[in-house]
Amino acid sequence: MDGSADASGVLEGTDTGSQKDRVVAEEEWLRKWETGSIWFHKERGHPLLQKYLDVLLNGRSGLRIFFPLCGKAVEMKWLADMGHSVVGVEVSEKALKEFFAEHSLPFCEEPVPEISGAKKLQTTSGNIALYCCSIYDLSSYVSLMITLMEKNSSYLLVTVSYDPNKHKGPPFYVPESEIKSLFGNHCEIKCLQKVNDFSDKHRQWGLDYFLEVLYILKFVT
Ligand SMILES: C[S@@+](CC[C@H](N)C(=O)[O-])C[C@H]1O[C@@H](n2cnc3c(N)ncnc32)[C@H](O)[C@@H]1O
Repeated sequence: MDGSADASGVLEGTDTGSQKDRVVAEEEWLRKWETGSIWFHKERGHPLLQKYLDVLLNGRSGLRIFFPLCGKAVEMKWLADMGHSVVGVEVSEKALKEFFAEHSLPFCEEPVPEISGAKKLQTTSGNIALYCCSIYDLSSYVSLMITLMEKNSSYLLVTVSYDPNKHKGPPFYVPESEIKSLFGNHCEIKCLQKVNDFSDKHRQWGLDYFLEVLYILKFVT
């Protein structure tokens, strides 16, 4: 990939600093969708997912693939078209409805009796089921991901890396040490690539570097 950069060492000694206690409330995410300030959505999908899809799939077909915090990620459509089934969770109903509309997918919706206010929006063919609720309604994020992973299953996880003292987020800086402390007891963690993703937007945020860091987590215990 163009612009790839190994930034090993750049963050040594840095912790998440001013971001430590910052939380983006659900309302803030809903507002972003309502006002269309969805700079985080990649219309053409995430290049790292395209590049490492074979690593994730590892020759397997007919998988059930989970997209936590899915927004209207176009990769859900690609993977469904390849014969996998997709389950997503997203707090914004607008995002989910845009997903179905933009891909001309007929869908039906039904309540989820176990979770008050939650809805399941599913393609009529049944291969994409998107839950409209908070992921925290399901369980805490990491423990949920761990319970969903069977032995030898893989989890492709992308994080971002920058000086957290210069931008309050989102997106939030997640150091490798945090990935290790959250998943290290259950997974082998391999960093696949660090990509320089710095753009004018990041310069305006006051940053002088911005990396995407892709990991593959293999569930071993
Ligand atoms: C970084 S964006 C991911 C966007 C997605 N990749 C796309 O292409 O549209 C994070 C998404 O998580 C959603 N979100 C934030 N907090 C959530 C929560 N607690 N439960 C479910 N979804 C949440 C936001 O509305 C947002 O769409």
